Amino acid sequence: MQIVHYVEELRGIISEAKKQGKSIGFVPTMGYLHEGHLSLARRARGENGLVVMSIFVNPLQFGVNEDYEDYPRDLSRDAPMAEAAGVDVLFCPGVADMYPRGYATFVEVEEITAVLCGASRPGHFRGVTTVVAKLFGLVQPDRAYFGQKDAQQLRVIEKMVEDLNMPVEIVPCPTVRELDGLAMSSRNAYLSPREREAALVLNRSLRRAEEAIRAGERDANRIREQVAAMIREEPLAEIDYVSVNDGVTLREIERIGDRVMVALAVRIGMTRLIDNLQMNLGGEG
Ligand code: PAJ
Repeated sequence: MQIVHYVEELRGIISEAKKQGKSIGFVPTMGYLHEGHLSLARRARGENGLVVMSIFVNPLQFGVNEDYEDYPRDLSRDAPMAEAAGVDVLFCPGVADMYPRGYATFVEVEEITAVLCGASRPGHFRGVTTVVAKLFGLVQPDRAYFGQKDAQQLRVIEKMVEDLNMPVEIVPCPTVRELDGLAMSSRNAYLSPREREAALVLNRSLRRAEEAIRAGERDANRIREQVAAMIREEPLAEIDYVSVNDGVTLREIERIGDRVMVALAVRIGMTRLIDNLQMNLGGEG
């Protein structure tokens, strides 16, 4: 595995791979890798000639009072994990190389970024789409792999690729969980043992919602209320949002139809965690 720190060096490697006719699979991350990231890399390994993973804690997608400075960074820990998952090129650029003095170009997807995480983190998705568009320009991937864990991010990237006719296939990958159900996240490293326990309320309330919907509940408000009530029982948890939306436009719904997404953002102490459940009910009633 090659570790590449500079944009110009990456360009050389990509043009060489293109010359050789290799398909390129790309996994963008912010590092502090876990099984979620690695599942994306393994999937990419199986489907492409060259696998590129980026590790870049993108300052543009963090708000002023967010955890940019504290975000965990450890390349000596990440590199062997990436290599074992089949990554060929690990691209770890510096901030000054990605956003040199005078940088002035941004990519913004409207509407679906105004709700959910976009509402509580103004500017966040503008930072995500800008960096991902830039990385797509550099890596020129045939396929790019994104986790369902960040369901809104996935939708926003799909919309950007569609609207800007970017020649890349977006491959959605399932959420990887700890044995007790907690969705893996680099931010789980912030949790104290007591908070780690409290964080289980996210998955627990989603499983409750899933059961209720499977049992025939179609009133979205009842689901919102049940989920919120369950989260409120956990003293360390504070709700940012509980959403029952249609999964594509991300608009809140009243009646649950063929498809539904239940999405949560919950603060556990100082740590903001997200999780979601997506169901396709077509044909099931
Ligand atoms: P990061 O949080 O590091 O996540 C990188 C990728 O891993 C994203 O596609 C995310 O959805 C996926 N992922 C994270 N946890 C996962 C889990 N438990 N199961 C499956 N996939 C998981 O998301 C970002 O970084 C950034 O916003 C980025 C897209 C890299 C742009 O800066």
